[in-house]
Amino acid sequence: MAGDGRRVVVFPFPFHGHATPLLRLASVLHTRGFAVTIFHTELRAPMSEYSEAPFKERLTAALAEEGAGVRCVIADVAWYKALSVSSALGVPAMGVMTASAANYRVYMAYPMLIEKGYLPVQEARREDLVQELPPYRVKDLLRLEASSLQGFADLLRNTIEAPRQSAGLIFNTLRAIEADDLDTIRQEESLPVFALAPLHKLAPPGNTSSSLYGETQADRECLDWLDTQEPGSVVYVSFGSLAAMDPHEFVELAWGLAASKRPFLWVVRPTLIRGYESGQLPDGLDEQIRDHGRLVSWAPQVEVLAHPAVGAFITHSGWNSTVEAVSEGVPMICLPLHGDQFSNARYVCDVWKVGMEIEASSAAGQNLERGKIKAAIDKIVHDKGIRERMDAFKLAADEAVNSQTEVKALVDLINSF
Ligand code: UDX
Repeated sequence: MAGDGRRVVVFPFPFHGHATPLLRLASVLHTRGFAVTIFHTELRAPMSEYSEAPFKERLTAALAEEGAGVRCVIADVAWYKALSVSSALGVPAMGVMTASAANYRVYMAYPMLIEKGYLPVQEARREDLVQELPPYRVKDLLRLEASSLQGFADLLRNTIEAPRQSAGLIFNTLRAIEADDLDTIRQEESLPVFALAPLHKLAPPGNTSSSLYGETQADRECLDWLDTQEPGSVVYVSFGSLAAMDPHEFVELAWGLAASKRPFLWVVRPTLIRGYESGQLPDGLDEQIRDHGRLVSWAPQVEVLAHPAVGAFITHSGWNSTVEAVSEGVPMICLPLHGDQFSNARYVCDVWKVGMEIEASSAAGQNLERGKIKAAIDKIVHDKGIRERMDAFKLAADEAVNSQTEVKALVDLINSF
C-alpha cells in the first residue's frame, strides 16, 4: 500500500475476534493516507513469548528497507512482547485492546482480585458484588481453575505492563458506553487512550473482512430473506467464531425460538454444537428449525444487524458482537458462555440496560431452557425503555462516525512521531 512515507506496522493476534478489529483499524488508517504493513505469524501461533525473536527480526528488516518510513507499530496488547521490542528499537508502539475497556480494568485489578479472595471463583460467592470493581459480580470475572490462576495472572501482568512503555492505547469501544472506564485507564496508566468504534463503520465498506483468520464465506442470501420480513420482526442468533454449546443447550434454544413464533436467522457454524462437527443436527431438529427460521453457517453479521427487519439479537456477548449491536441499535438477549462474555453481558444488562441475560452456563450446563428463551424474546421485543436507550446509543455511534473525532486524534498522534 502506498502512503507518502508514512507507514504503520499492524500486528493482529491470530483469532478472528481479535484480528477483525485490527484489520478494520488498518483499513481506517489506510484511508487516512498511511501505508500499512500487516505482520502475521506463519503458523498463527498465539504465543507472545515465542514471537519476540521473529518479530524483532521482521521489524528490523522493515526499518532497514529504504523509504519504508515506519512511523509506529500497532499491536494487539496480547502481543505484549511486540510492544516492548518496538519500543526498544526506538519505534513508537501502541497497544490495541480488542475487548472492552472494562475488561482492561479487570486485567489491571487481577492481583487484587486474587489477594482479596474473589478469585478463584467460589460457588458460594458467585453472586457477591466485587466491591472494588462495580458492577461486577464474582461470577462475571474471568473464570479459571485454581491451578491455572497464577499463570494467567502473570500473562495479564505482562499484557498491561508492556503498554505502559508505549505511546498509547487504542480501544475497540465507544466513549458513549465506556467513558468512565476509559478515563480511569487514562489516569491510572498515564497514557493517551482512544476509543475507535464502531470500526466496522469507520472502515470503508467491503474492507472489513478477516478471511486470513479462517472465516468461512458469508451467506449473503440471508440478506435477501431479511428483505422479505417485517421491520423489527426477526431474531438474529449468533455465538461468534469460537463458542460451542452442548446438544442439550442447542435443542432448548431451538425450541425456544420456535415457540416465540417469530422469524429467526441463526448462525450454526459446523463447530457450534459439541459432537456435531459434521454439521448434522440432532435427531429431526433440522426440519423443525427450518420451518420457523433460516440457518446459515456464517452471516454477514454487521449487515444483518443493520437490517431494519432485525429486532433482537441472541448473542454470546463477545465484545465485537456487543459493540456492533450497540452501534446498530439492536437490543440483546445475552447468553454468555465463557471468558469476557460474562462481564460484557453485565454491562449490557445492568449498566447500559439495553438487554437481558439468560444464564446458560451452570456447572452441569443444564440451565438453558426453552421457556426462558421464549419469555426473553417476548419481553425484549416489547420493552420500550431498552428500545429508547438503544436508539440513543445508535445516535452516539453515528456521531462518532460523522465527527471522526477519535480517528483524527489518533492520526494526529501518529503524525507527531
Ligand atoms: C472472541 C471472544 O469470544 C470474545 O468474547 C472476545 O471479546 C473476542 O474474542 P468471538 O467469540 O469470535 O471472539 O466473538 P466476537 O468478539 O463477538 O466476534 C465475532 C465477530 O465475527 C464479529 O465481528 C461478528 O460480526 C463476526 N461474525 C460472527 C460474522 O461476521 N458472521 C457470523 O456469522 C458470526
